[in-house]
Amino acid sequence: MTRLKLAILISGRGSNMEALLKAAASDPEFPAEPVLVLSNKPDAHGLKIAEAMGVAAVAIDHRTFGKDREAFEFHVDATLRGSGVEVIALAGFMRVLTPWFVKRWEGRMINIHPSLLPKYKGLDTHQRAIDAGDTEAGCSVHWVSAGVDEGEIIAQASVPILPGDTSDALAARTLPAEHKLYPEALKIACKTITEKLAHG
Ligand code: GRF
Repeated sequence: MTRLKLAILISGRGSNMEALLKAAASDPEFPAEPVLVLSNKPDAHGLKIAEAMGVAAVAIDHRTFGKDREAFEFHVDATLRGSGVEVIALAGFMRVLTPWFVKRWEGRMINIHPSLLPKYKGLDTHQRAIDAGDTEAGCSVHWVSAGVDEGEIIAQASVPILPGDTSDALAARTLPAEHKLYPEALKIACKTITEKLAHG
């Protein structure tokens, strides 16, 4: 079985990253092999988790590049290619990517977003769902395209919104659903990529 070389891009806590690393470590049939965790923030807690799990972890501090987004991404891209990366999972990666980077990894990069897309793209998803009076919220994994949180949806999971919910309570209820969904969605994405490779 082909295991695609996986990079996970993070900016902070890294709980979704951890869920992907655990899924890959515990399932011999998992179609992706984590080769790199990369953070734009040197103090991201997820880097420590990755190291403890024996996965290469690097920080490329975006602040080093000032306002030059492409210079930062050029560095990230070179690092990914240097590790032979074939598929990217964004997991709480808080930088908007330029069209150049998105195009370069088109069809090979996925993201997890804490809402039932197409609802609530961007930030504050949980509060916005509560304020709208929704009775359910959830999470989505999608292909990354030029528009933020707009790419084709791969998989979704929903959770109820309960009376009196706060944003934090809803986020806490959604997170375990994310951890379950992301590895499953990554499997689907890997299958798509592998099939495309096989058919040229
Ligand atoms: C998650 O809720 C994810 O959906 C969003 O950012 C959060 C990251 O959390 N994109 P973690 O770093 O994976 O713990």
